[in-house]
This record gives sequence, structure tokens and C-alpha cells, in this order.
Amino acid sequence: MHEIAAVDPATGDPTTAEPSAGADSWWRSAAIYQLYVRSFADGNGDGVGDLAGVRARLPYLAELGVDAIWFNPWYKSPMSDAGYDISDYREIEPVFGTLADADAVISEAHAHGIRIIIDVVPNHGSDQHPWFTEALADTPGSAARARFWFRPGRGAAGERPPNDWQSIFGGSAWTRITEADGSPGEWYLHLFAPEQPDFNWASPVVRQEFEDVLRFWFERGADGIRIDSAALLTKDPDLPEVSPDEPPGPGHPYSDRDDVHEVYRSWRAVADEYPGRVLIGEIWIPDSVRLARYVGPGELHTVFNFPYLSCPWDAKQLREVIDNTLALNAPVGAPATWVLSNHDVDRIVSRYGRADTAFSLQQRAYFHSFPVDLELGTRRARAAALLTMALPGSVYVYQGEELGLWEVQDIPDELRQDPIWWRTGGADPGRDGCRVPLPWSGQEPPFGFSPAGAASEPWLPQPKQWRELTVEAEQASPASMLELYRTALRIRRAEPALGDGPMSWLPSADGVLAFDRGAGVRCVTNLSRAPVGLPPQAVVILASGPLAGGMLPPDTSVWLRAVPEQSAD
Ligand code: NOJ
Repeated sequence: MHEIAAVDPATGDPTTAEPSAGADSWWRSAAIYQLYVRSFADGNGDGVGDLAGVRARLPYLAELGVDAIWFNPWYKSPMSDAGYDISDYREIEPVFGTLADADAVISEAHAHGIRIIIDVVPNHGSDQHPWFTEALADTPGSAARARFWFRPGRGAAGERPPNDWQSIFGGSAWTRITEADGSPGEWYLHLFAPEQPDFNWASPVVRQEFEDVLRFWFERGADGIRIDSAALLTKDPDLPEVSPDEPPGPGHPYSDRDDVHEVYRSWRAVADEYPGRVLIGEIWIPDSVRLARYVGPGELHTVFNFPYLSCPWDAKQLREVIDNTLALNAPVGAPATWVLSNHDVDRIVSRYGRADTAFSLQQRAYFHSFPVDLELGTRRARAAALLTMALPGSVYVYQGEELGLWEVQDIPDELRQDPIWWRTGGADPGRDGCRVPLPWSGQEPPFGFSPAGAASEPWLPQPKQWRELTVEAEQASPASMLELYRTALRIRRAEPALGDGPMSWLPSADGVLAFDRGAGVRCVTNLSRAPVGLPPQAVVILASGPLAGGMLPPDTSVWLRAVPEQSAD
């Protein structure tokens, strides 16, 4: 048996870091539900999800068995990027409700024993943020402009952008403004859409403002912060050109620069004033040694596991990612996180039903070119759910994953909303397909997403076939994905060996992942093409699919409890 030891990923040396324990570190083992408000439940019938809808469905989440909810941004926003363009970090978007509704969500969730994590977007705001309006009205070189990245253009008349940086959403990362006197003016930087101007994190005013925003929400009862685009905040003020091949890190002008860590050290000091609060980083960098620095002492508590999320359905590659993840987190005593999907990536059922089961943000169109075998994808998604929930650390469930929803790839072009689709002229299909409103009940859209008699249709159309995937339909069916998630989450919470803690690989055939979580609790996942025998002396706790004749079929996972051998005498 190969014990996964705590080793320093840089040196390979064993370390002695010990995880902290207790209620203040609930996040080490938590099952966290990602709630995308626009698509969760519509309380007022306008076709868009809202906080009234969330409040009405909190009992559903309590019954599902999650420990916390991470809300995608719920703040006031012109919605150019589905709420990731924030015009007021202390107000709720009126389409979603009011600050009083948010307070009620927090206290009612707490009454259900569910903690609340909110999404803070520090890299950029909205072009409707009062600071940006002030900056436009002010002059080049003013204090109002210093909170953003304003620069004169290149060329005789400043007609070319300050440099050739590209927006992550396509096109130039710069947009030219018209000065207050009507003349063509400076350019401002936006690593995402033009409606999302980047803040200048060299500015003490920006730093102070975000610390105040953190306190504002901690005081209101938020239990944690998910930090959007966390590696991008700080920029080289010389704005040097960068090749697309330049790896993130010290030499990069805007990704994973060393000075970004100062920001998180000060955020951690704020979080530490409020016991039990967690800071979670969204960091898409592939280098695990660099990633480990974010969860180092005095910085973030955890980071999302994007290597796991992007990994194909392949035993060898999954094992490598699992080993790397544990080795990365162990030296600093941070728990691993396990994520199968989120609001930016293809739904897992579709991914696993394609001939290529990997995923990357840059190749979405390529992945969409494969036919999808939904039956196969669903079987694998069930197996992946048990594998994921058995791994040591915390686990995320993106809303709808528990229903087995698939990626809606045939949304009519004129109904698409994602700026990625529009800015790439449709070359990148974008993220609308994983954001389609949830089906709750009934036989026809809106499937209970909006109340009966609602005046508006859901903001994105729901496939008619989702009548079989409503909460109502699935809770009546013991073999449904929903029942699998409910049972697995219940067992995971009750079983002390699951969640945070040690794991050890067990010997297994090629294409099979088998590991022990202690106290005899084991998980075996068969990713090979043939059935494999189950270990003797073990009882089945839960299986993702039928087990025929004591064998584990392909694309199936099982949780087992080893039965101690009887002594001979
Ligand atoms: C990352 C978020 O997950 C994504 O949805 C958003 O579009 C970008 N940040 C820009 O804010």
C-alpha cells in the first residue's frame, strides 16, 4: 500500500504540517454547492432567478446535504458578464432582490446549518461603477484615473492601443474613451470585456476599498469569500508586450506576479479577525509549485482544483492529478479541493460522453465538435461523483450537477448571452450551455423554475427532455442522479473517514483507481473497459451503478467497508 505522505512539492521532502481542526476549519471537509442565482429559481416570475427563489428552495439544499453555498456574484451589476461586472459591491442587483433579501438568505441558511460563501471580484469592476464614471469625467493623470489603468495610445494621434495585450474574452484588452471635452482620449485596460475595467492594485485606495468590502460582508454573516481571477490583480506598470506562450509567474506582466501575494496576506489578516471565515482562490495556473504559494501560511485557505476539473476520464491521468494535488497542499497543511464543473465549463455529463473527455477553456469549440453519448456520460458522471466525494478534502457541486443536467449546445444564436460568444463572433460557443435555468417540476418549460403563470420565459431556453431530470421526477426515482448525490453526501457527512484526512492507494488493475480512507472505508472506480472483481471481505456502502455478480462494471464506482477477517480460533 502506498501511503500519500505530506511532501514538499519542490524538494520531495516529507513535512510535518498538521491540519488545523475544529469548527473554525469547517471548510476542510465541506461539501460546497455552487449556486448561480440567475438560473437557480425565479421567485417573481420575470424569468431570472432571484433571492426569493433561493429562500424558497433552501430546504432542498438542506435535504441535499451540503455544508455551504457559494453564490456567484449577486451585487448590483449591468450584467455585461452575468454579474462579474459589479457597479456596487455593497448592494444587491435589483433583479435578484435587496440587501434585506441577502441578509435573510444568510440567516435562513445558517438556521439550516448551511454556511454562505460570496464571490468577490477584485480584478475589475463595471464601467458603470461610480469610480469609473468619475474617472471618465476627470482628466488624464487625475487621482480618479489612478484607480484604473488609463494610458495614452500609441501613434501620432494616440490612435493605437498602449500595447498589444489581448482580452481573455477576445479582441484587444484596451478601449479608447472620449474625454469630457469630446476629444478622442486615453485608453483603459480590461483583461475581460470592455465593460469590466481593471482596477489598479498599486493604488492604496483600491486596496483599502476591498478590505472594507470584505469586512462589510463578514459583518453581515458571510462565512467565506471566493476570489475571482485571483492571479491577475497586479500588473507591471511598464505594460511590456507579452507572448501568449509566456508562462504565468514573476516575468509575466499580469498573471501570477509575486506582488499579488501582498494583497492576499492583507486579506487573510482581515479574515482572521472573524473566526471561521475562509478565503478561496480562483486561479487558473497549471504550475502546482506556483499554485502552492497561494495557500501558504498567512494567505488563502484553499484554491480551486482546476487540474482535476480539466482532467480526462482516464485512470492514470486522474491518479497523477490526485497525487499532485495532495502533494501540493500537504506541506502547507491546506486541504485539497475537488471540482468537476462550474459556471465557466462544459457540464460533466456531456464531457464524459464525448470521445475526448478533457476540457480546456481555450478549446471549447473543438470539444463541442464531438457527438455526445448521454447514456455513457451519465454513467461516468455518476462514477466520478463517488470518486470525487471520497477524496480527502472539500468538494464542490455545481448546481444541476446533482440532477445530471447536460451542456445545452443548441441554444439559438439570437438567444445567447455570453460575451465570449459575441466577442469571438461565435467562434467560441461560450458558457450559456452550462447556465440554463434548473428544472424543478412539471412536464414543460419552465419546469417550475418560474412560478405558475409567470409573465416571462426563462432567460435561456430549457430543453424539453429535461422533464425527466426535474427535481420532482428524480426524487421519485431511487436510481436517479439526485438520489445518488443525496445518499453520497449523507454518508460522506456521517462517515468520519471521509472528508479531510489521509488516503492510501490500494493495489489495483490497470484502469482502476482504488484507495483506502481509513476505518476500512474504500473507494474503487473502474475506468477500464472490462468488469473487475471487487475485493473480498468488504461490504458495499454505495455504488454508482448496478454490480453484477460481485463484479464492478466499467465506468462505475463503489464505496466499500472492509470487514475485519475473523480470527481462526
Ligand atoms: C472568472 C469567472 O468565473 C467568469 O465567469 C468571469 O467571466 C471572469 N472571471 C471575469 O470576471
